[in-house]
Amino acid sequence: MKENRPSVTAQRVAMQRAAHQLLDDPKVFDDPVALRIIGKESASALQADPRQYETTPLASYLRAFVAARSRYAEDELGLGIRRGVRQYIILGAGLDTFAYRKPCPEGTLHVFEVDHPSTQTWKRARLDEVGLTLPGDLTFAPVDFETQTLEEGLRDAGYDPGKRTFFSWLGVTEYLTTEAVMATLRFIASAPKGSGIVFDYMISPSLLTPAQRARFDALARRVESAGEPWQAFFDPGLLARDLGAMGFEHTEDLGPEEINSRYFQDRKDGLRVGSLSHLMNARV
Ligand SMILES: C[S@@+](CC[C@H](N)C(=O)[O-])C[C@H]1O[C@@H](n2cnc3c(N)ncnc32)[C@H](O)[C@@H]1O
Repeated sequence: MKENRPSVTAQRVAMQRAAHQLLDDPKVFDDPVALRIIGKESASALQADPRQYETTPLASYLRAFVAARSRYAEDELGLGIRRGVRQYIILGAGLDTFAYRKPCPEGTLHVFEVDHPSTQTWKRARLDEVGLTLPGDLTFAPVDFETQTLEEGLRDAGYDPGKRTFFSWLGVTEYLTTEAVMATLRFIASAPKGSGIVFDYMISPSLLTPAQRARFDALARRVESAGEPWQAFFDPGLLARDLGAMGFEHTEDLGPEEINSRYFQDRKDGLRVGSLSHLMNARV
């Protein structure tokens, strides 16, 4: 990320979630706050022309993936709550709206939004601007994953390391160094049994077919020109092995086929995810 500037990609993916609410039926991820969080001007423009981001054939793949990863993370969070999870930590939260949808009775789940300080300051101003009230059991924890440990940031925010905790980390790992990703995952592996994480990651370019590689290069150029270049990529088999070595007892890796068959079957509109990213669910 560029110094002292909020994430540009955070607004972009929030626009995708908002466009999903307007364009796709049935919705894979239902977010009644998605339009509000993007700001009044962007919401009006999107309502006037919901296809304004459909500038390339890749746009619907991206929108589908952004919807699917939030759906998967929140489905897994729901299962975690039944297993006794009492803290939800949204890493690199961007304009995530979970906390503002009041999904759980007050006092049952403490939500922590962790993000780069510049993005978090910008989000808080946006929440204020669009009149979204902060729930009582939400804490903001500013952390730069490249220069601070998650442990320090959460400790300062009042995280209880003795409680079962669910983490989500959506649309973030590719923007970090591999070392920063691994250090964060090692910390999560030390959470109490029953804790877990859902995150998405990009497949190593060396594993892609030439056609996939061309799509990868086109998207990589776009994020690089926004000042947020992709840095970390993984081989699914090696990643599962590394997570096991860190202490995660159960891992589930969803590639495009699994994601499409789980969330995009039998759709009349043909909406589906592309092949560059996977979803990982790792449980301690
Ligand atoms: C593409 S956005 C995803 C936001 C959100 N998770 C979502 O899915 O809408 C990337 C997020 O990663 C965060 N991020 C990028 N580099 C970071 C860093 N070094 N430390 C903390 N957060 C970072 C950005 O601030 C931004 O919120």
